[in-house]
Amino acid sequence: MNDQLIIFDTTLRDGEQSPGASMTRDEKLRIARQLERMKVNVIEAGFAAASNGDFEAVKAVAEAIRESTVCSLARANENDIRRAGEAIRPAASGRIHTFIATSPIHMEKKLRMTPDQVVEQAVRAIGWAKEYTNDIEFSAEDAGRSEIDFLCRIFEAVIKAGATTINVPDTVGYNVPEQFAETIRSLIERVPGSDKVVWSVHCHNDLGLAVANSLAAVRAGARQVECTVNGLGERAGNASLEEIVMAVRTRKDIFQCDTRVDTTQIVPASKLVSGITGFPVQPNKAIVGANAFAHESGIHQDGVLKHRETYEIMRAEDVGWSTNKLVMGKHSGRNAFRSRLQELGVDITSEEQLNHAFARFKELADKKHEIFDEDLQALMSDESSEPKEHFRLLSSSFHSETGETPCARVTLAVGGTEAKAESCGSGPVDAAFKAIEVVARSGTELLLYSVNAITTGTDAQGEVTVRLSKDGRVVNGQGADTDIIVASAKAYLNALNKIQAGAEKMNPQV
Ligand code: KIV
Ligand code: ZN
Repeated sequence: MNDQLIIFDTTLRDGEQSPGASMTRDEKLRIARQLERMKVNVIEAGFAAASNGDFEAVKAVAEAIRESTVCSLARANENDIRRAGEAIRPAASGRIHTFIATSPIHMEKKLRMTPDQVVEQAVRAIGWAKEYTNDIEFSAEDAGRSEIDFLCRIFEAVIKAGATTINVPDTVGYNVPEQFAETIRSLIERVPGSDKVVWSVHCHNDLGLAVANSLAAVRAGARQVECTVNGLGERAGNASLEEIVMAVRTRKDIFQCDTRVDTTQIVPASKLVSGITGFPVQPNKAIVGANAFAHESGIHQDGVLKHRETYEIMRAEDVGWSTNKLVMGKHSGRNAFRSRLQELGVDITSEEQLNHAFARFKELADKKHEIFDEDLQALMSDESSEPKEHFRLLSSSFHSETGETPCARVTLAVGGTEAKAESCGSGPVDAAFKAIEVVARSGTELLLYSVNAITTGTDAQGEVTVRLSKDGRVVNGQGADTDIIVASAKAYLNALNKIQAGAEKMNPQV
């Protein structure tokens, strides 16, 4: 009992591989800081060799994070491993996670390598990684469809070479719990040196079994689970961090282990990831869905009021659901503003940034009397200076009247010069986007538009996500304002700025 289960979060790497979830360096930093606050053990910050932007993002996370291990993914080749090693160099604790496919279909059809060559390459990869760190994770990609004898062989070889964590991914989400647990049990039993490494699992959710498979593996002896906030990830996603953590916390009697995660940070993490990626959380999602703790039926409500545990196995506040906390108002001062931001873990890098943010806070407080933590977080995410703003909204006006075609007029700063445009559309948001396009002529396609109220009440700020694609690249833009048309225009421009700034990146598994 009381073994530690290592929580390896891959929201910034596998999560980012969800089409449309790509994140900027700054966004990754914000999520990484929240993961550190939540006390996850390992943060996989990205795939450093994917692009210069990815390298810089992993490096920035390695520089900023002190309490969690920072990891970069690398294919089992020298270039990837050296890029990963350089990117994690500034970390207080850094890990290289290298992988190669081991299933017959992947070796033959994708890698075009023989099993012998695959083992040789894996061992060589560990050798390169050892030049940078002793904390080396090896993954057998598509282990879930690999032959157990071959897995034993390659794992024995990489352990001998110096791997310290052995990860067993169900890459395509093909496994089912009893069988996956049996695989883990027999690997731990059969692989020489298995007691010297941490056994890890990484499950995808194609059959909706990622969490069940991961937990079955924990029962079989795995002591690291790879997971993502909100279950974000390739295709149907990865095992959801919040479900894994709360399952082992709630059923320690079954799992005989626990995590060090501060569960009160789960809901803030979920909201942050959802806001940044534009992937909403379904209301009935376990732990972090809006209805996860809502009791609708009279019988349940009556039971909970009489004795909470009649229908509740967890407490909402233990996972970070708090009633919107009123923190500040119009009369709050600069120091109170700064210290609340510090409590929220928002970094203020200069007095100039503080002054600017404080001026915007005052503007918001004029429009909205009660300012909640969520408002401050949205305000600060808008403050972020990345990507450098090529397009900025200077002013706007919108006209919408029953029986009339809605029209919008915008004034933009475009790379330092001012440009005005107007357009009409099927609604005010459509008109605003068309007016922006008169100036931007971006050639992008709008893939998603969504609005969420940040807090409750009709004076709440609307947080808008816009997803745009151009030449196969997909980006998300966010904007928040009490006026949702303005929030929409800001979100659209934020996405355009990312298109303008960003570089192509590659997917490690393609
Ligand atoms: O799903 C997978 O196999 C992966 C590996 C790179 C660990 O993401
Ligand atoms: Zn994966």
